[in-house]
Order: sequence, then structure tokens, then C-alpha cells
Amino acid sequence: MAETSSVTSSIPKIGDRAPDFQANSSKGPLSLKDYKGKWVILFSHPADFTPVCTTEFIEFAKRYDEFEKRNAQLIGLSIDSVYSHIAWLLQMEKIYGVEVKFPVIADLNMNVANLYGLIHERASATSTVRAVFFIDPEGVVRALIYYPASTGRNIDEILRVLDSLTYADSFMIATPANWNAGDDVIVPQPATLQAAKERLKDKNLNVKDWFLAIKKSPK
Ligand code: BEZ
Repeated sequence: MAETSSVTSSIPKIGDRAPDFQANSSKGPLSLKDYKGKWVILFSHPADFTPVCTTEFIEFAKRYDEFEKRNAQLIGLSIDSVYSHIAWLLQMEKIYGVEVKFPVIADLNMNVANLYGLIHERASATSTVRAVFFIDPEGVVRALIYYPASTGRNIDEILRVLDSLTYADSFMIATPANWNAGDDVIVPQPATLQAAKERLKDKNLNVKDWFLAIKKSPK
């Protein structure tokens, strides 16, 4: 790929307040603050009517209820017009029998793309990469994932990250590699020598080491 000297627009980081925006979408005008009190999964795709993006939208649409159950609002985004979105979503209904019930932002002026660092110029100066922002009910960025155009996203992984974030918030735990909801969780590591010694004797936990202790998943 050719090297260019252009810079990527800034990317909100974990812990940052998610930049608010107003945008037009396949469901009409919206702004991020409309969703206060809900998780927002803001995800961008490179372009409508492209093969990988179509497979992703079909899967997001099929799993819509699982996001709803988690109090999470999906919002798609690309640098396409609202008419392009409408035509593409209609085609998905007709050909694949899936209804896309979430809004898809038509970010023609790249306002949201620039606020969220969705244009990576060396990949494309005119389309968004595949990004996923997890924005919590207070409007704070809690996780972000980026993929290149050639890699379709895994919806299970997006739900898994959302579950991990909500478990961590609710139960003050962390989740290990390959964790899924219901699996054992990790207890925060002790912060003092005394607490570490006590942890090593704790019979209520599966203590692998003073800093790594596991317990059953909270419900
Ligand atoms: C796709 O969704 O298939 C795609 C989109 C942009 C570039 C390459 C592939």
C-alpha cells in the first residue's frame, strides 16, 4: 500500500467522553445524547452495497434482539447518502429477509467520522474503516475495536465485550481470555502485601496465585 503523509483524525480513547453529534440517518435525524441511559454500539462500515458490509449488516440485524436485551442501541455509519442506506436496507429485506431495525448514519460531511477517528487515510481517505465504539449509559467510551475493510466483524465478540463491561461494572470483577457470560470470573488482585497473604489462604476462591484468583460467575 502506498505511503502518504496525511494524518489520521483523532480517536477518542477509553475513558473519554464520547463526542456528541447530530446526524441524519435511515431513521431520520438523531444525536448521541438521545441515547443517554443506554449503551450505544456505534459502528462504521466502509460502504453500502459491498459484500463484507452486507454480511455484517445481515448478522447485526439477526442479533438485534440480543443487543436490545442488554439495553444497547446499535447505530451504523458510513459516508453514504441516506438514499443509498434506504436502498441497501430495502434490498437486504427483499433478498435476505432481514429488517435492519437500528439507524444507519449518513455521514456525507464526515462530521462523525472525523470526531471518532473513523477515516484512516492510508486505508481510504473517502470511506470509514470498520470501527466499533462501546459507549456506556453515561456517555463514556469504554472500548473500541478497529478492523480493516477485508475483515468482517464477529457479532459474538461484540456481545461478549458488552457483557464483560456490564459484568465488570456490576460485580467489580474482570473477565479472562475467551470468557463468555456465565463463565468463571477473575477477582481483582490484592493491593497490599497483607491482602496478598490473605488471598493465598482464601478457601472461597480458586486461587492460582496471589494475583490470580477465580470465582464462579455472579448471576
Ligand atoms: C466489503 O464490504 O466487501 C468491502 C468494502 C470496502 C472495501 C473492500 C471490501
